[in-house]
Amino acid sequence: MEIVIRKARLDYRHDHKIVDIGIDQGKIVEISERITQRGEEEIDANGRLVVPPFFNMHFHLDSALTLGDPKFNESGTLWEGIRIWGEKKKKLTEEDVINRAERVIKWFVAYGTLWIRSHVDITEKSFTAVRALLRVKEEMKELINLQLTAFPQDGITSDKDVPELLEKAMEIGVDNVGMIPHNEPTREDGVKSIDIAFNIAKKYNRNIDGHIDETDDPNSRFLEVVARKTVEYNYKGRVSAGHVTAMHSWDPAYRFRILSFIRDAGITVVPNPLINITLQGRFDGYPKRRGMAPISLLLTNGINVALGHDCIMDPWYPLGVGDMLQVLFMAVHVDQLTGYNDLLRSLDLITYNGARAWRVSNYGIEKGNDANLLVLNAKNEIDALRILGPPLYVIKDGKIIAKSLNREYSEVYNKGRWEKISFFMDIT
Ligand code: FE2
Repeated sequence: MEIVIRKARLDYRHDHKIVDIGIDQGKIVEISERITQRGEEEIDANGRLVVPPFFNMHFHLDSALTLGDPKFNESGTLWEGIRIWGEKKKKLTEEDVINRAERVIKWFVAYGTLWIRSHVDITEKSFTAVRALLRVKEEMKELINLQLTAFPQDGITSDKDVPELLEKAMEIGVDNVGMIPHNEPTREDGVKSIDIAFNIAKKYNRNIDGHIDETDDPNSRFLEVVARKTVEYNYKGRVSAGHVTAMHSWDPAYRFRILSFIRDAGITVVPNPLINITLQGRFDGYPKRRGMAPISLLLTNGINVALGHDCIMDPWYPLGVGDMLQVLFMAVHVDQLTGYNDLLRSLDLITYNGARAWRVSNYGIEKGNDANLLVLNAKNEIDALRILGPPLYVIKDGKIIAKSLNREYSEVYNKGRWEKISFFMDIT
């Protein structure tokens, strides 16, 4: 066997059993109390938790690591962020986007994320970021499973060229169709934009990945339209709704009524806890609303929920290092998922639920599955959420691709060589 992990602790799904895990030719070939054969590489997990790798289901690679360029967001609001990004995006170069995206992807990998779904703003007509991120996707495919979503940041109906730009993005290889109906000028424009997005998705056979109802306005109710269109276009299971922060403020009777529509449409709701708790409630005095979609209510009603990091060190969010455990940490606080069983199951929000939305098969620590796994620096789920930080080892398709050295550095295997990467960042 190429790798044997000794004394790995499995998660709550496997009653926290301690096992040896054998890996060969990219697969998990044995899970048993004691593997007698020696591995070419031996990892002593010493009772540490071994889990499948993380999913970041909503991200913006094009703006990541631009903090302070051209200026800092002093108010911390969404609107100042959009203004700053509006300035920055006119000056993008492919090289700048590639350098920042590659750096942040390596951070994510070092912190155990192997699937990232990133938006790319297609309203900047030069398509600089689109071309750059398509190159990153191709050049880093050994390290990361990256999907790109064509994101009409300024709306689909606001500029007559945007539908064409969305189609152009599909033609050159962007994966999913995005939308932002709550940002369109009127409710009618929002509904129209959803139809345009579904039409393009159908034409090119792509999935839908929208920014939906990202506002505190309880009258923002586009998720119901998305659910209706999902059924109409026969897109069940192919639609993700990012943010849906308005759901936090919806009238309970209305929220209750549409839960079954969302479930029946097979929509995955993707909250972005770090950003939602920061950007929502900005018009409130005290008390300030939390403004995150109600995760526990959605889960108990059979709706798939997976999490996104959304931003790292950009005009909207000045923090972050690519640790999906930080995202989960915030989610369990904001939605009060602190019951013992809630905490154990909360890891699903960045693992199995992402796999379901992404439709990854052979996922999970089971014999015969693809050997994608993390040896966490934690002995159980609660340790993982308390201690956070990078896994000791990240294994992708049966190969070790990242090792944690300390709080400053990890090593990542990129483009055929081991590279020492730092999580520190100069702020300009
Ligand atoms: Fe976003």
